[in-house]
Amino acid sequence: MTVSTEEFGSPSRPEAGGEASPEKLLAPVLSSFWDQPDPWTLETYRRHDGYLGLRKALEMAPDDVIALVKDSGLRGRGGAGFPTGMKWQFIPQGDGKPHYLVVNADESEPGTCKDIPLLFANPHALIEGIVIACHAIRSHHAFIYLRGETVPVLRRLHHAVAEAYVAGYLGENVLGSGFDLELTVHAGAGAYICGEETALLDSLEGRRGQPRLRPPFPAVAGLYACPTVVNNVESIASVPAILHRGKDWFRSMGSEKSPGFTLYSLSGHVARPGQYEGPLGITLRQLLDMSGGMRPGHRLKFWTPGGSSTPMLTDEHLDVPLDYEGVGAAGSMLGTKALQCFDETTCVVRAVTRWTEFYAHESCGKCTPCREGTYWLVQLLRDIEAGKGRMEDLDKLNDIADNINGKSFCALGDGAASPIFSSLKYFRAEYEQHVTGRGCPFDPAKSTAWADGKNLEVHA
Ligand SMILES: Cc1cc2nc3c(=O)[nH]c(=O)nc-3n(C[C@H](O)[C@H](O)[C@H](O)COP(=O)(O)O)c2cc1C
Ligand code: SF4
Repeated sequence: MTVSTEEFGSPSRPEAGGEASPEKLLAPVLSSFWDQPDPWTLETYRRHDGYLGLRKALEMAPDDVIALVKDSGLRGRGGAGFPTGMKWQFIPQGDGKPHYLVVNADESEPGTCKDIPLLFANPHALIEGIVIACHAIRSHHAFIYLRGETVPVLRRLHHAVAEAYVAGYLGENVLGSGFDLELTVHAGAGAYICGEETALLDSLEGRRGQPRLRPPFPAVAGLYACPTVVNNVESIASVPAILHRGKDWFRSMGSEKSPGFTLYSLSGHVARPGQYEGPLGITLRQLLDMSGGMRPGHRLKFWTPGGSSTPMLTDEHLDVPLDYEGVGAAGSMLGTKALQCFDETTCVVRAVTRWTEFYAHESCGKCTPCREGTYWLVQLLRDIEAGKGRMEDLDKLNDIADNINGKSFCALGDGAASPIFSSLKYFRAEYEQHVTGRGCPFDPAKSTAWADGKNLEVHA
């Protein structure tokens, strides 16, 4: 796995026009020592300023910690980009109820692969962030809800938590501060919907994971009906560096509305896939430049900025700033920054069919538009891919996606509609080719274009 290796604390902004040398564009913080021996141990973490942010936080009043995180401008890395400090501020104080922090480590979105490597390589960044966050929101019990199939990560996390208890970062009287904190690691059974924060809470309580009706929001009635913050792994793991280095340092990266560093996960038909940690606002072109580009002899056809739920973009969008505003203005979403890159050998209908099969399989069945709609999308897509589609099916796909989007109970439905809308927007001609050619033009048996290595004219 590729990781960036610049020194901690020496990030630089991406420069307009791509003037800076490629390595200078990286800003490794969470990944700064992943390539060193045993990066996951407490000893290695301490050698890289580990737990210094916590010491600072414990000297501060909880409200001051919240204010600092709010002023830093840190936005949630779970997909929606909600300001982290503001979320913490919603937790009522003096209500006499237990407060909980739940870390969302379910990571199941196709293409998304940042939290699992982060936990595997640097689990103490999350644990330190958890203690800081719990001090801020006055919580004495935190949970990590981990995707259960990742057994090696589960073991490593258990080991790191045990190390933190022995060292006095967890348990009673953390570092002699008088603050007590228990941390429970919970392994989920592997359902995409359990990454949706309210379904996650139901699952954590021992029920079937299905989204809850809101309001009440988790900040008011979350886990066991008590005020709860649900945050992504990367969001919480980013907090210690902010405490240690300060909000101005954090704001020196990225933009006014999207400040800081983040993990970009480059995957697909690229020369060197992996985690690239850089400032928000970097572009895919810059990331490809520093990572060796697409695989030799091929060109970018389409890509997702943040997992399969975010509308796909094309090679026209290589210079879009990868931050919340930039990607939004280009008609997509930054999401989880899972940059899946597909070259000209990929059939877009096939890719969308596979994603839609995933959404149909993972639909929890609670609401009709998503449960029924994703099923029918799959039937139509399979027919089109197999050469049994009709031209009117393309509008039908659009209609069904329209009946799911914004009309479903949770955002899984919107996510399922995204690849349909965006692929029809950019690659309608390729769908039509499947209908008129009675099958996939990328199938070697159907067309000589693929066999000859020629690019199909698919860009509408
Ligand atoms: C179907 C679905 C799956 C999701 N999966 C995850 C996930 O695996 N990890 C995650 O952090 N957020 C996931 N989310 C978003 C969470 O609901 C929530 O917004 C997030 O955990 C909040 O953390 P943040 O504020 O730190 O970004 C998912 C949302 C939906 C609708
Ligand atoms: S949108 Fe899909 S996953 Fe979400 S509640 Fe409805 S059926 Fe379940």
